[in-house]
Amino acid sequence: MCGIVAYVGPKDAAPILLEGLARLEYRGYDSAGIAIVSKTLKMRKVKGRVADLAAAVPARFKGGLGIGHTRWATHGVPSDVNAHPHLDGAERIAVVHNGIIENADELRAKLTVDGVTFASETDSEVLAHLIARTVKDTDSLEEAVRTALKRVVGTYGVAVVDAERPGEVVVARNGSPIVLGIGEKEMFAASDVAALVRYTRQVVHLEDGELATIKADGFHTFTMDARETAKEPLTVDWDAGHYDTGGYEHYLLKEISEQPETVARTLRGRLDDRFHIAHLGGLNLTPHETRAFRRVKIIGCGSAYYSGQIGAQLVEELARIPADAEPASEFRYRNPVVEHDTLYVAISQSGETYDTLAAVQELKRKGGRVLGIVNTVGSAIARECDGGMYLHAGPEVSVASTKAFTSTAVAFALLALHFGRVHDLSPADGRRISEGLRRLPGQIEEILAKDAEIAALARKYADHTGMMFVGRVRGYPVAREGAQKLKEISYVHAEAYPASELKHGPLALIGPDMPTVAIVPDDELLDKNLTTLGEIRARGGRVLMIGHRAADPKLADDCVVVPKNETELDPILLTIPLQLLAYHAAVALERDVDKPRNLAKSVTVE
Ligand code: G6P
Repeated sequence: MCGIVAYVGPKDAAPILLEGLARLEYRGYDSAGIAIVSKTLKMRKVKGRVADLAAAVPARFKGGLGIGHTRWATHGVPSDVNAHPHLDGAERIAVVHNGIIENADELRAKLTVDGVTFASETDSEVLAHLIARTVKDTDSLEEAVRTALKRVVGTYGVAVVDAERPGEVVVARNGSPIVLGIGEKEMFAASDVAALVRYTRQVVHLEDGELATIKADGFHTFTMDARETAKEPLTVDWDAGHYDTGGYEHYLLKEISEQPETVARTLRGRLDDRFHIAHLGGLNLTPHETRAFRRVKIIGCGSAYYSGQIGAQLVEELARIPADAEPASEFRYRNPVVEHDTLYVAISQSGETYDTLAAVQELKRKGGRVLGIVNTVGSAIARECDGGMYLHAGPEVSVASTKAFTSTAVAFALLALHFGRVHDLSPADGRRISEGLRRLPGQIEEILAKDAEIAALARKYADHTGMMFVGRVRGYPVAREGAQKLKEISYVHAEAYPASELKHGPLALIGPDMPTVAIVPDDELLDKNLTTLGEIRARGGRVLMIGHRAADPKLADDCVVVPKNETELDPILLTIPLQLLAYHAAVALERDVDKPRNLAKSVTVE
């Protein structure tokens, strides 16, 4: 999704902006542009990649102040003119904008009546014209930006420069992230720390409704009513190395391969061997409050939602508290009943997904207690929640989520252990789960060692136009995530169903052209699952089984055997071969693995 970078300092801004934009490529975009201010305002923008933009930027683009943008089209097709920055008619003001201006048509009509000519079809261009009109009457870019934003209905992260003020950038946030980066006699701003970590790890996150002016020697922040705000810089522990492919062909494979380490990091320091409990200091819940919850409701989007389904299962099984997961994007629109004895848990890798953030805000408005399970430290959702857990999985760059998914499931196992041990989970079961969790990293290594075997299976199955994924109870969210991974990155149609539901409809699809990936753990439902495989085979369907023991050739054509852990934790391991299956299918089909079409890493708009 759209990205913003801004720089002010003694160096040439253009290379810094281009480098920053390249770091934001992973979020998904279709065009890119920069504007530089020195004596005049210079701008280049192109439809296409940041590399195309870099090739189009002339060497004479000198100057120590600038803004840059990667655009993901919402209003108007991807094109050179619709790319950001946008300028006013006099080419004095340049604006880059993330988000959506909902009253853009109305503002555009009014400005047109006043004689303004629009160059693009975007909603964002109205901002440049609005700011330009006020800046003439005031001596302050800050004031001009505030005045313009007061007329705007919608969401934004913006960065604005004025050709007549070559020493400052004004940025503002409302629903779309802006983070400031503090350097040595230079300042940065961006929509994502990924663009900053090469230059600084000292950052300041803006809140919704907050603005900032950055100059080479510092920054100040203020509200829409021009009240100064106080900010504490935060040190981010991600560095530029986290954003390299590290010798792997794709970020996705790198991130799949990192899982032994990322799972270990999520667990680190959180298991107590004396009482077989989990230490989760960030929850901000007293033991009394922890015991008082009667229900757990989990919300998230996409893969975060599916990991929440695994989480709900873990909470029910280990803590015996009713729990369920729901897409945050649905939850926020159905006027949910918010109960005071329900604990709400929001999941997000980025911490910026707009639907999840809006659902958390709605919950808070109605008095709900919300925990966050989030990967990005200091992100909007983490700040909005009452407490929670960070995943410590490191930045996830590939659009399709892998390591954040497994770390979230592990975080839920810790949460469920914590709740279980203050309810009626025995010390022996606490110990069993703790020991199981500690075995996960080594067992993930064992699964990763099957890469070549899974790659061969992916090549064998990739040329089908559709695939069915089935699993029962614990296996169902695994099947859903497996189907999600495959469709996201290989574009092969994939449907996930509870295995128990197969004969109530989808069995009609089964035949030689529709293979099934079946999640068949060695648990109390094994016989039922094997019966399902028989039903599929009886209809001529091919079966790839993911399970704990070699398949009977009468029931499955192929099989991936994964190591067995405790039954409750098995879903975490069963997910890994499905990630590799999707990855190798996408490679075999020559897809853009890390940046699948139409998708964005972090969906910061509605
Ligand atoms: C987008 C991504 C998905 C991701 C979802 C939630 O749709 O394409 O891969 O699972 O957002 O993202 P979050 O950052 O909130 O976990």
